[in-house]
Amino acid sequence: MKVLLVGSGAREHIIAEQLSKSSELYSIMPKKHPGIASLSEETLVHDPTDSAVVGQWAKEKGVALVFVSPDGLLEKGVTDTFSDLGIPVASPSKSAARIEWDKSYARNLMKAKEIPGCPRLKVVSSLEEAREFVSELGEVAVKPIGLTGGKGVKISGEHLNSEEEILGYCSKLIEQDGSVLIEERLEGEEFTLQAFCDGNGLALMPPVQDHKRAFEGDEGPNTGGMGSYSTGKLLPFMEQKDLDDAKGIMQRTLMEMKNEGNPFTGILYGQFMLTRDGVKVIEFNARFGDPEAMNVLILLGTELSEVFLSMANGKLCPVSFSNECTVVKYLVPEGYPLEGKADQPVTVDEEGLWNKGVKLYLGSVYEKEGVTYTTTSRTAALVSKAETRQEAENAVESAISLVSGPLWHRKDIGTDELISRRMEHARRLKQ
Ligand code: AMP
Ligand code: GLY
Repeated sequence: MKVLLVGSGAREHIIAEQLSKSSELYSIMPKKHPGIASLSEETLVHDPTDSAVVGQWAKEKGVALVFVSPDGLLEKGVTDTFSDLGIPVASPSKSAARIEWDKSYARNLMKAKEIPGCPRLKVVSSLEEAREFVSELGEVAVKPIGLTGGKGVKISGEHLNSEEEILGYCSKLIEQDGSVLIEERLEGEEFTLQAFCDGNGLALMPPVQDHKRAFEGDEGPNTGGMGSYSTGKLLPFMEQKDLDDAKGIMQRTLMEMKNEGNPFTGILYGQFMLTRDGVKVIEFNARFGDPEAMNVLILLGTELSEVFLSMANGKLCPVSFSNECTVVKYLVPEGYPLEGKADQPVTVDEEGLWNKGVKLYLGSVYEKEGVTYTTTSRTAALVSKAETRQEAENAVESAISLVSGPLWHRKDIGTDELISRRMEHARRLKQ
C-alpha cells in the first residue's frame, strides 16, 4: 500500500519509520527532512497548503491513504485537500481539528455537554470582563484562543506575578485575537493520553508525562516539550481510576463531536491534570504529541499503516503495545526556547547509537548539500525503551555525546529524583 505522510519533525520521523515497515512511504514537507526523506520512495518538498500541487502529486503517485500530522496543517485544512479527492485520510478534517485550534470551541463543548473535568473558565473580549473574572478566580491561567506551539499559556504566580501583569497579558491577547480564555489555575500532576480514533470509538495508547519547562527542576519558560517518559499501563503517580476517568472524558468528547455532526477521525490527544478533585482537562489536541508520539510508537505491536487504514475506514482495528518503559530527551539548539541558534551543523554517530540500542529522530532540522543544520526549534530526540525506566534513562544519557553540535538537553527527565518529587506532589494533593 502507498501511504502519504504530510509534515516533518521528530514526531513525523517515527511515524515515517513505522509506516515504512509495511507500506511504501511517500512524503510531503516544506523543507527537506533527511530522516523522513531517506525512508520515503519519493518526497515532495513543497508548501503542503498548496492544495492544487499536493493533491495532484498524491493522485499521480496513486497513494491509497494519507496522514497529515502537524497542528498547523490540520488547522489549514490540509486533510480536506485529500479527502475532497476521495483519498482515505486518517487525520481530522479542518472542522474536527477545531478541538485543538479553537480553545473556545473545546471548552464550550465541554461546558454545554457537561463533560466532566472542565475547570472554571470564561472566554472574554473586554478588559472589564477580564478584570471581573480574574478577581473572582484569584489564581488563573491565561490562554490565547488559537495555536501557539505550546508557548502562549501564562500562569499566575509563575509567569504573571501581579494582577497588573495578568490584565496586561489579557489586554495584549484581546487586542491581538479579539478574545482571551481565562481559567482557574489548577494544581496537580500532568499526563498525556493519546488515542487512535475512527469517528466513533478510540484505542488508547499508554499514558506519558511530558516536561514543558525549559530547565531542570521544571524552571524557566514553556517549550514544545523537552522530553518525556512512560512506564507501561500507568504512570507512577496514577491509579487505574485516573486512567479510566481520562478515557471516559475522551470517549464522551468524541461522542459529542459525532452527535453534533463533526466526527473526529485521527489522533485525539488529551492533556490532563490529576488534581485533588480528580482528573481535569488542560487541553485537547488533534494530533500526536511531540515528544509523546515517540514514547508510544516505539512500543506499538500493530502495523501503523493497518491502524491508520482502519481509522480512515471508520472501523478501528485492535491495537497492541508492549509493556516496556520509555524515556525521550530532546537535544535543542543553544538559546532555545527564546532564541534558538539556527543554521548550525549537527552530526550523529549512527553506529554508536546502534550499538547502544538508542534511537534518534530528527526534529526541526533541514539538509543542505548533505549536511544537517539546526533551525530555531528542537533539533533531535533520543529515545530508549527498556524493562525499567532507569535503564531507559541511562541509555539515553549515555548516547547524548554521540550527537555533536551546539545543543543542550534536560538531564533530569526520567530520573529517580524527579519522579520521586512528582509522586510526593501527587501524594500531598490527594491527602
Ligand atoms: P497548554 O498549551 O494549554 O497545554 O498549556 C501549557 C501548559 O500550561 C500546560 O501544560 C500546563 O502546565 C499549564 N496550564 C494550562 N492550563 C492550566 C490551568 N488551568 N492551570 C494550571 N496550569 C495550566
Ligand atoms: N508535547 C506537547 C504537545 O505536543 O503538545
